[in-house]
Amino acid sequence: MNVLLIGSGGREHALAWAIAKSPLCDQLFTAPGNPGTAQCGRNVALDIQNFEEVVRFIESHDIALTVVGPEQPLVQGIADYLINRNHAVFGPTKAAARLEGSKQFAKDFMSRHHIPTAAYRVFTHEQFQDAATYIQSQNRYPVVLKADGLAGGKGVLIPESEQEAMEALKELKEGQLKQASEILVIEEFMEGEEASVFAICDGNGFEIIGTAQDHKRQLDGDKGPNTGGMGAYSPSPLMTDEMLSVVREQIIEPTIRGMKEEGSPYTGFLYVGLMLTQDGPKVVEYNCRFGDPECQVIIPRLESDVLQHMYQSTQGALEAEQITFDTHFRTTVVLVSGGYPGSYQKEQAINGLEQAETLSDIQVFHAGTKQFNDEILSAGGRVINVVGSGPTLQSSIDKAYKGVECIHFNTMFYRKDIGAKGLKHVS
Ligand code: AMP
Ligand code: GLY
Repeated sequence: MNVLLIGSGGREHALAWAIAKSPLCDQLFTAPGNPGTAQCGRNVALDIQNFEEVVRFIESHDIALTVVGPEQPLVQGIADYLINRNHAVFGPTKAAARLEGSKQFAKDFMSRHHIPTAAYRVFTHEQFQDAATYIQSQNRYPVVLKADGLAGGKGVLIPESEQEAMEALKELKEGQLKQASEILVIEEFMEGEEASVFAICDGNGFEIIGTAQDHKRQLDGDKGPNTGGMGAYSPSPLMTDEMLSVVREQIIEPTIRGMKEEGSPYTGFLYVGLMLTQDGPKVVEYNCRFGDPECQVIIPRLESDVLQHMYQSTQGALEAEQITFDTHFRTTVVLVSGGYPGSYQKEQAINGLEQAETLSDIQVFHAGTKQFNDEILSAGGRVINVVGSGPTLQSSIDKAYKGVECIHFNTMFYRKDIGAKGLKHVS
């Protein structure tokens, strides 16, 4: 079959790599893609916000399956648009994508289905004064403030005092997040370690396809501002078989069942961000897509055919027992442009990519890069993912950093402690 993959990050390069090696894949197109996805198939310059243009491409290129990487088009309803025109699409409908697209929907949904999560209250834009009074009366810090809508990873504020909380409220009401925070969720701060679980879902059922831990902060020791993700490893040693079966029974099963019961069956990848609290695992957030960079450490572990699993899911016929993995750990270090997530320089020549790729147990996935003549240049905040593989977490970390040593570009920056927090849990 011909496949259209939508997106342009490291996540999409990892997906493109896995789809291209499927015996079911005839031609792979990625829109808009990056120089990494161009090695796996053909990049096409489609405007992915323009669903009509996407459908025209699907029809003129005999595309049998469209795979949607990022959340934005899903939350805007690209899956509904394609399904209504009889095109198979891997990714949730607009109604199902509300699990990520609306924090209020997600919280109310969890409450309706008794899925463990932080206690919360919802306030509208007109009730911001009530929100302030509520925070003051609770008088418990830190407290968590979340803008309801998509906010590019910037919609969560965690003030640590009353003064900070009042400033955060003002920021949400009047600042850049004004639109996303027309509805505001205030929730209890949960203590514990974070880990993520990923499931592939076909509307009726699901299968867990991996666990991972991300490193969201910019600097070593989890310091500095939040980023899209500076590195990840899989599997997470915190996610023992026991813990996974609790997550499966108390969280993922009721989520998939609940979405189906409410008339919005969930198809696609489901990302469940968890806090492992003293009272057990609780949901921090759902995302309606794969994580980036978590995808880059989970997909390479998959031995079975991801394209087959995705296609089956779109038909409501996922054969979960066909999903198999290798036993190695994977760690990815993200090479970013110095300054990211603040301002940074682009268009720096990247050297050593081929050298890194020739090393054993190392894979390189492109994120913010672009081709210029025969050079690869940096073109975004997160630029390159170097993935190391090994029989232990430590060996996968060592491999990843060995790959990193080969690569250089002006302003390049990366964290030196990716995986360290996982090593604490390995005996
Ligand atoms: P999100 O943008 O939803 O991924 O949230 C960003 C980060 O905020 C999460 O990864 C957590 O570290 C933190 N966070 C969100 N909600 C809570 C909560 N209720 N308690 C503690 N930390 C939270
Ligand atoms: N790595 C975090 C995310 O994909 O949202």
